[in-house]
Amino acid sequence: MKTKAAIKPSRYFHTKALFALSAMLFMIAAIASSFRSKEDDPFKKAGKQTINKDSIESVKAFASVYKVLMSPRCMNCHPAGDVPLQGDDSHLHTMLPKRGTDGTGVYAMKCANCHQETNTPGLHTPPGNPKWHLPPADMKMVFQGKTPHELAKQLMDPNQNGHKNLQQLIEHASDTLVLAGWNPGEGRTLPPLSHKEFKKAWITWLTKGGYAPAPKPQ
Ligand code: HEC
Ligand code: HEC
Repeated sequence: MKTKAAIKPSRYFHTKALFALSAMLFMIAAIASSFRSKEDDPFKKAGKQTINKDSIESVKAFASVYKVLMSPRCMNCHPAGDVPLQGDDSHLHTMLPKRGTDGTGVYAMKCANCHQETNTPGLHTPPGNPKWHLPPADMKMVFQGKTPHELAKQLMDPNQNGHKNLQQLIEHASDTLVLAGWNPGEGRTLPPLSHKEFKKAWITWLTKGGYAPAPKPQ
């Protein structure tokens, strides 16, 4: 009985101390995160990813990234207007299907009516993907006609890139619509780099700081 009485107060203090300690830890965490989070900065939001800024390496990697983005396999879905493009010469899509608010087409001209889940065999047939569509009307993500400087700036701007942070931008390199570029269906050329090379250049560009090349390349 004596021992029990002796333990009681010490247990009480123990609980109290624990409580105070966790309250302190919580406050420290709250203060730390208030310094860290800056909503619109993809780098600040990324957290885990190590950034080792290097503008020369970054800009060099973007030159490779840009070549892929401007290739018909990517640009055809990132047009300046509201109609997708077709073919290696990026002409306007026949029958002019429109973007629509969510990018999946309008009325009877829905992308998925013709674009199946997988490529349709044969020449001049629609490539397939379960989510084949254009970027939405309020976030057009235009590649067509953009200089390297303009496109790099746009990709890094959360208000233009679909609110993607660094981690999400990195992950996008393996998005199924991006991968579709390397499985384009018969009669279409591949992007100028392999997917592996593209992904490497993309990640290097981003993790070295996501720098934009100078406005006018010499
Ligand atoms: C079938 C149409 C389609 C094709 C083909 C396509 N994309 Fe996209 N792309 C989209 C859509 C839709 C979005 C927006 C969806 C999202 O943000 O997740 C998008 C978003 C993006 C984004 C992020 C937005 C931005 O501007 O930061 C990048 C980067 C991108 N695509 C790269 C590519 C690359 C590289 C290729 C070619 C290898 C490609 N896309 C081919 C439809 C396409
Ligand atoms: C009426 C059927 C039809 C509809 C609707 C349609 N497409 Fe197509 N699409 C095709 C066909 C057929 C091709 C292949 C044309 C060719 O290779 O000559 C094609 C090709 C494309 C290509 C070219 C792919 C490449 O790599 O060059 C893109 C991009 C594309 N469609 C996007 C869309 C989008 C986005 C929508 C919806 C807004 C859409 N299409 C709606 C039939 C359609």
